[in-house]
Amino acid sequence: MDKPELIIDGKRLDGRMPDQLRPIKITSNPIRNAAGSAYIEWGNNKILAAIYGPREALPKHTGNLNRAVVKCRYTMAPFSSIEEHGRPGMNRRAIEISKVTKEVFENVILLDLFPGNEISIFVEVLQSDGGTRAAGITCAAVALAASGIPMRDMPYAVSAGKVGETIILDMNKIEDNYSDADMPVAINPRTKEVTLLQMDGALSRSQVTTALTMIEKAGETITKIQREALLRPYEKVSSKYEASI
Ligand code: CDP
Repeated sequence: MDKPELIIDGKRLDGRMPDQLRPIKITSNPIRNAAGSAYIEWGNNKILAAIYGPREALPKHTGNLNRAVVKCRYTMAPFSSIEEHGRPGMNRRAIEISKVTKEVFENVILLDLFPGNEISIFVEVLQSDGGTRAAGITCAAVALAASGIPMRDMPYAVSAGKVGETIILDMNKIEDNYSDADMPVAINPRTKEVTLLQMDGALSRSQVTTALTMIEKAGETITKIQREALLRPYEKVSSKYEASI
């Protein structure tokens, strides 16, 4: 397929402006058996995250007597894409995304509180359309918060990229395929620390600054959606309670 025109009259193929996020919806605790869970619809991505633990690290040699260890498994369901490249399941890409996701959360979980334990994060992509590592991290952050495991901050992630000389936020699959750069970033919103920064393609120094500014601005919206997902179940309970008095 020839490279499609990704920006026409200042608008992207799905009608978004360059700095516009796709619609994001998050539900907390859809999975009963997990310590905490979340489901995210981010554009056409559909992703579940589930947390198990803290529980004794097994096999024992994987544990650490001074702190908890974080284990993470990111996988794409076999039916999650109509992609011609790559296989679903635990391939090299899934191992890489599992690793960077784990590192984001090692930075925020209060690991010292659970020596000898493991905290497992499962990220299952049910439907994919570009940006699944960012959406998975954003979703897993809500799942962790819903589990009650203490964290310093609630991370979010989103990517920015480049089409020609235009910096665009939150690329979907077709933009990801044909863009000139892709930079997924995870941020701890309270401290503004960057805990993931990957780069595919090339950006100039000033383009990186523009992209990070866009990402931080979008982060305010994403953080709000994450918090609302966590609060929603309690709002339902309190309105039922109010109705009963
Ligand atoms: O999903 P993310 O952008 O974090 O990772 P990527 O490796 O840049 O992949 C971009 C997109 O390609 C994914 O979101 C999927 O839609 C698609 N993909 C796929 O369908 N099958 C794969 N094995 C790998 C990627």
